[in-house]
Amino acid sequence: MQKCQKKRGQYPLIALVLFAFIVFSVFFNGSNVEEISPSEEHPFLVSKNLTALKLNSARELDKSSKCHYTVEYSGRGANWDAPVPESGGRREMPESCDFFSGEWVFDNTSHPLYSESDCPYMSDQLACQKHGRPENGYQHWRWQPHGCDLKRWNATEVWEKLRGKRLMFVGDSLNRNQWMSMVCMLQSVIPSDKRYMSPQQHLSIFRTEEYNASVEFLWAPLLVESNSDHPVDHRLSERILRPDSHLRHSSHWRNADILVFNSYLWWRQGPVKLLWSNEQDGACEEIDGLRGMELAMRTWADWVASNIDPLKKQVFFVTMSPTHQSKEGWEPGSEGNCYDEKLPITNRGYWGNGSDVDTMQMVGRVLGDLGTKVSVLNITKLSEYRKDGHPTIYRKFWEALSPEKLANPASYSDCIHWCLPGVPDVWNELLFQFL
Ligand SMILES: *[C@@H]1O[C@H](CO)[C@@H](O)[C@H](O)[C@H]1NC(C)=O
Ligand SMILES: *[C@@H]1O[C@H](CO)[C@@H](O)[C@H](O)[C@H]1NC(C)=O
Ligand SMILES: *[C@@H]1O[C@H](CO)[C@@H](O)[C@H](O)[C@H]1NC(C)=O
Ligand SMILES: *[C@@H]1O[C@H](CO)[C@@H](O)[C@H](O)[C@H]1NC(C)=O
Ligand SMILES: *[C@@H]1O[C@H](CO)[C@@H](O)[C@H](O)[C@H]1NC(C)=O
Ligand SMILES: *[C@@H]1O[C@H](CO)[C@@H](O)[C@H](O)[C@H]1NC(C)=O
Repeated sequence: MQKCQKKRGQYPLIALVLFAFIVFSVFFNGSNVEEISPSEEHPFLVSKNLTALKLNSARELDKSSKCHYTVEYSGRGANWDAPVPESGGRREMPESCDFFSGEWVFDNTSHPLYSESDCPYMSDQLACQKHGRPENGYQHWRWQPHGCDLKRWNATEVWEKLRGKRLMFVGDSLNRNQWMSMVCMLQSVIPSDKRYMSPQQHLSIFRTEEYNASVEFLWAPLLVESNSDHPVDHRLSERILRPDSHLRHSSHWRNADILVFNSYLWWRQGPVKLLWSNEQDGACEEIDGLRGMELAMRTWADWVASNIDPLKKQVFFVTMSPTHQSKEGWEPGSEGNCYDEKLPITNRGYWGNGSDVDTMQMVGRVLGDLGTKVSVLNITKLSEYRKDGHPTIYRKFWEALSPEKLANPASYSDCIHWCLPGVPDVWNELLFQFL
């Protein structure tokens, strides 16, 4: 029925498509345009392409997805009805101690908890010794909370807690960093013929029949559906997301027993484009990263609020992982970044400008509204001190490095991810306190 009606109005439709195409050509360039570029001499090709475009806006987002055109954010979805927090507030235990406030203590007897070369699953992005890091001091730090001690890491005890369960990390490459750490911290107590690692995909699974348990990682950098959902083949330049749809990811995470979410850095590279699920014309709304993240967090929180029974499942949210891109922050007047840093920062008040306070407050509000359904792993401040913990140049780089870059190591240093063994091991020790 609708189709027939649309055909009668073909002339305006063609005009619309041509107009959109012109707008499109202005904003997009080269090969991108070819996918949908109509031949101007064949109007029927144009309307065929319109159908294709419309389908595009309904199909799942991927690397090649495009906004038909972009308008300013309308305010849609912003007047959120927060669920009433359950009594008791957020789960933080034990009540008397804040595990996240403390200091780093050099301790080369207790740490590291495993050795880099003994973890067969180790990622080349994180194996700093293998890639030539000349010292290993960064592996020897223990986190000491003020006023209490952390329960000692015990891999067997963790497996006992995971028996018959699925522990799933969901998020971006920092969360994958934490998952990798967890796998390395747990794998050594399982005989090698009783553990399995699936190839890296949207969902990567490490499992063992010994405990009928798995430790999994789901790539979902923006939590909701986006054009960046392929773990390797994703688009970096332009973020398009469906702020109201997590289904692509939640269909995987819904059956996990313990969920550890994160999201942050992917929202920090400028405005993002919203493509609402019921949008018919491929029109996107542009919004700044922080408000975009809040919309996605609210959609995620909605799922948590209606699907999580805290007596049956545990949900954690890991706060932003700090970057050390600018040495100026801890050594005023100097240039450079985390490259060649060998010691943690000792200034207790240190807070780097890569950790956005507005984002933290927004996350705090969203998690606060969820009450006891979610626990926060507030790793930001403790990780801020660890300017020495990043891979810098001692990791595998996927692209070839030019001689100019090689001559200036800081120019290509990774000051975002973390060497393993290292800082994320402590995030997992903290997680262990709550299991
Ligand atoms: C179009 O793309 C080419 C490379 O594909 C680039 O050199 C050129 O600067 C681009 N032009 C605009 C206007 O973006
Ligand atoms: C631990 O560190 C101390 C002080 O740097 C050093 O004297 C000692 O040899 C180290 N022990 C081990 C096992 O590396
Ligand atoms: C680790 O946990 C297991 C199981 O709970 C227990 O039997 C073992 O004694 C613990 N090991 C240490 C060193 O505490
Ligand atoms: C293994 O764990 C799953 C849940 O992850 C459960 O459904 C299944 O029954 C368990 N199998 C055995 C043999 O215990
Ligand atoms: C942090 O500060 C440095 C130096 O002052 C500056 O270059 C950088 O852009 C700042 N980063 C952010 C995210 O504001
Ligand atoms: C995390 O801890 C910092 C202090 O280190 C605090 O300012 C922030 O509000 C906390 N965030 C959340 C979400 O609880």
